[in-house]
Amino acid sequence: MRQVWTTKTGPPEVLEVREAPDPEPKKGEVRIRARACGVNFADIMGRLGLYPDAPKLPAVFGYEVSGVVDAAGAGAKQFEEGDKVIGLCRFGGFSDVVALPEIQVTPLPVRLSFAQGAAIPVNYLTVYQMLFVMGSIKRGERVLVHSAGGGVGFAAIDLCAIAGAEMIGTASASKHAALRERGVKHLIDYRQQDFEAEVKKITGGKGVHIILDPVGGESWAKGLRCLAPTGRLVVFGFSAAATGKKPNPLSALRNAMAVPWLKFNPITLMNENKAVIGVNIGHLWGEAEMVQGWMKQLVAWAEEGLIHPTVDQEFRFEDAPKAHHHIQDRKNLGKVVLVP
Ligand SMILES: NC(=O)c1ccc[n+]([C@@H]2O[C@H](COP(=O)([O-])OP(=O)(O)OC[C@H]3O[C@@H](n4cnc5c(N)ncnc54)[C@H](OP(=O)(O)O)[C@@H]3O)[C@@H](O)[C@H]2O)c1
Repeated sequence: MRQVWTTKTGPPEVLEVREAPDPEPKKGEVRIRARACGVNFADIMGRLGLYPDAPKLPAVFGYEVSGVVDAAGAGAKQFEEGDKVIGLCRFGGFSDVVALPEIQVTPLPVRLSFAQGAAIPVNYLTVYQMLFVMGSIKRGERVLVHSAGGGVGFAAIDLCAIAGAEMIGTASASKHAALRERGVKHLIDYRQQDFEAEVKKITGGKGVHIILDPVGGESWAKGLRCLAPTGRLVVFGFSAAATGKKPNPLSALRNAMAVPWLKFNPITLMNENKAVIGVNIGHLWGEAEMVQGWMKQLVAWAEEGLIHPTVDQEFRFEDAPKAHHHIQDRKNLGKVVLVP
């Protein structure tokens, strides 16, 4: 098989294609010939040495693939050779062959391409968990989504629409026209405008009910102030720490110091009727059945045509460094995938 290795921390050029023997599916596993592999911001954080969950380098990152089943291990009965599927990987996903436990594999919805399938697991599961499982989203609520033009952001557009919620997005200005076309009415260019002041303007001073914030640092402090009473701030990433294309521990530390540690205390939250919710889909491997239930719901919505994974661009394995540059240059509109 061919795999994309993150050989060490450093700029995107540390990514390298290497060959290895194909894996044999173990008991309860199926083997998938991958056609597309989803790239996540976590892969960039891992390359920069800013991702505590990352395996020791050199390593093959990658959380998700779509492809075709070509073999099954003993006792694996749910899929047959030739089935089109999507799968969640505990790393190792940037490979053209993966072997996964059946519980991490789901049929690819017929309406979707392989690239769109690879755009579902991490982004849509995370947003599903944030809005429906932990955020208790209700029809008519206002949701502020940061990085609205990225993979998670586009998933949030679909799931806010399903919930009947109104979305306000923050994104670089170059993405606003496309986001507007996808139905996001309120957009904030957070790099030029103060998003706190803009949210207050848009909501007539009332604030929002849910915030999805993967930026971190100072953004969380502002977010708390943007919440309406009973509001929920969901923290699920720290992209603010990725200040360049090479590791920079000092600037990462500066951002960590901007976290509102004292405002997140129980007494403040109690008195302000606000919640702070933490989400990390990568820490739910012990809850595979629960996550599989969420995945079934997402696939059902995809079959109904209610979710439309937006693929920004496909890069060949050899061009993985270009994919990382593209994302860090803030050029992606939706999901970036690697294809073998
Ligand atoms: N906790 C979890 O389970 C979980 C799961 C999935 C993703 N996440 C987090 O969610 C966020 C979005 O993930 P994604 O994979 O969908 O990525 P993405 O949104 O496609 O990421 C790229 C976009 O992030 C924005 N951005 C914000 N700060 C940035 C920075 N310092 N450098 C470069 N771009 C920056 C840029 O858009 P603008 O310039 O338009 O803002 C960029 O286009 C990431 O922080 C990720 O770690 C967390």
